[in-house]
Amino acid sequence: MAGDEPLLAARPSSEHSIQYAEEENSLLTGARAPHRQTRRGWAFWREVGVFAWAIIATILVIVLAVVYQHESAKGHHESRNNWGPGGKPTGKRNLIFMVSDGMGPTSLSMTRSYRQHTEGLPIDDVLVLDKHHIGNSRTRSSNSLVTDSAAGATAFSCGFKSYNEAISVTPNHSPCGTVLEAAHLAGYKTGLVVTTRLTDATPACFAAHASLRRYEDSIAEQEVGEHPLGRVVDLMMGGGRCHFLPNTTDDSCRGDDRDIVEVASKNGFNYLSDRAGFDSLNGGTDAKLPLLALFADKDIPYEVDRRYQNDKYPSLEEMTRTALTILSEATRDSEQGFFIMIEGSRIDHAGHGNDPAAQVHEVMAYDRAFAAVLEFLENDTTPGVVVSTSDHETGGLAAARQLHKSYPEYLWLPGELAKSKHSSEYAGAKLTEYLSGTGKDDKESKQRDYIRKTLLEEDLGITDATDEEVESVLHPDPQVSPTYVFADIVSRRAQIGWSTHGHSAVDVNIYASSSQDAWPLMGNHENIEVGHFLADYLDLDVGAVTKRLQASSYWTASGEETTDQEKYSWLGNPVGSDVRLEGLDTYHGDFRKRSTDECGCGELH
Ligand SMILES: *[C@@H]1O[C@H](CO)[C@@H](O)[C@H](O)[C@H]1NC(C)=O
Ligand SMILES: *[C@@H]1O[C@H](CO)[C@@H](O)[C@H](O)[C@H]1NC(C)=O
Ligand SMILES: [Zn+2]
Ligand SMILES: [Zn+2]
Repeated sequence: MAGDEPLLAARPSSEHSIQYAEEENSLLTGARAPHRQTRRGWAFWREVGVFAWAIIATILVIVLAVVYQHESAKGHHESRNNWGPGGKPTGKRNLIFMVSDGMGPTSLSMTRSYRQHTEGLPIDDVLVLDKHHIGNSRTRSSNSLVTDSAAGATAFSCGFKSYNEAISVTPNHSPCGTVLEAAHLAGYKTGLVVTTRLTDATPACFAAHASLRRYEDSIAEQEVGEHPLGRVVDLMMGGGRCHFLPNTTDDSCRGDDRDIVEVASKNGFNYLSDRAGFDSLNGGTDAKLPLLALFADKDIPYEVDRRYQNDKYPSLEEMTRTALTILSEATRDSEQGFFIMIEGSRIDHAGHGNDPAAQVHEVMAYDRAFAAVLEFLENDTTPGVVVSTSDHETGGLAAARQLHKSYPEYLWLPGELAKSKHSSEYAGAKLTEYLSGTGKDDKESKQRDYIRKTLLEEDLGITDATDEEVESVLHPDPQVSPTYVFADIVSRRAQIGWSTHGHSAVDVNIYASSSQDAWPLMGNHENIEVGHFLADYLDLDVGAVTKRLQASSYWTASGEETTDQEKYSWLGNPVGSDVRLEGLDTYHGDFRKRSTDECGCGELH
């Protein structure tokens, strides 16, 4: 191929383009293109006849389609029996809500092709999720076209648009009731399963309220029952132990010396902190609720790394299967079923890190968890639904990348991702450990060797690193971390593109066990409609919970309510009045102004 031939040369000439535009216009507006206005002979009247017939036929088809759809929809309601008269579900039922944090449409394409490549599967082999795609969600928050996870999860939990960083509070600084709280009050068992910190934005939004997502110490307290409604969660599994441990212990990330594990125990929680504890649940048949299981100080390792760690940490699929068994057994004899939120939390982190190798394994792990939920629903005698969606896309991921100014190539290379045994996060952490430990006093040439042989070759499968690349790992620009450099080295070889280390505004997919189960979510929706569906499916009055929470304006954990304190002080300090909570920002000349003095490095998810 001629490398420097301009792309446009292959395009039709401009004359053609004008003609296409005219014809397209006439199709859209119904006006006839000028060059067609000629004789009114037999041909004209034949055209009129054909046209009339086409209109009649189209109307007939539409009428028949509407009638058919109406009939078949009625049939589904009758046969499922869980969407009763008036479109309201009836009877005992379970709701499983899954969040693939930061997974956009391209994550699916990339993972699908990766799996086909590595497992030698045919080109029509798809993920389980692909077979259950029913719609799309529009993700903007109240104050930005690009949401964060907090506003994204508030849309799901409360059914309200709020500002970025809001944990189930509305822009007017008052708490909104969540589907999990409403489910708890209605007698359902409730659960949260995640692979990041249980105090992180997505799980927090279901069981806590805070003005800002960073008030994670308060979120931990609320999750174990220091909450105006008392304990609302029955089962929690994931990471984030550091926010539950007092600052007198090494692994703590709390700002105070409160022991929240102890508070949880006092409130009746059974506490687990490791693999042995998880195994003692015996797949869920030997568990007692309420249960708090914290398997990591912060995040559970990426799947790409976890798989080599002797099963030290349970996988998302294992946690999912166990949690479903526990909740199912716990509700065996009750009138109400359960509500659980399961999050593939770290798809988002792989996006922030621009790490495609980590991301494909996170998405496959999520897909296995989704399949496990489907299997559970098929076997279970209680009817139920799984709905899965993302809060937003992360990374502006593109399954193509132009590496040079010259002609772009139409390809990306999954084989390059398959060579990575580990994530860039893993390689970055190993480098830090080496440079502060055994390699601290090594000559730079030896340090370069370590980077080239051990980290790039063995861990990431990069055998052709240039000297400049090795140098940029050892002495990265002050704005980036070595982890980012590792991810970029891998992405370039696979020709995977990223437009940001943050989130993007693209619509994300909605999946469900079936479109009959989740028919209100078919098509393109605002993210709050997902929240409305969750409440509607369990027939919950989330508004009533909001009223109860708002009546707790002066609530304190110690139980000493006093009007001396600030209204809603339990939500933490409100955001300053200088922060915009609604309406969109405008251009401030940031294109030139914003310098990057600090490493963002995925701080805000
Ligand atoms: C630990 O928390 C206590 C308050 O609970 C505080 O006084 C102390 O300074 C904290 N210690 C550290 C090391 O942060
Ligand atoms: C579902 O049923 C099949 C067949 O009885 C069984 O092999 C499988 O373990 C069951 N799965 C779950 C999640 O209960
Ligand atoms: Zn998110
Ligand atoms: Zn994020």
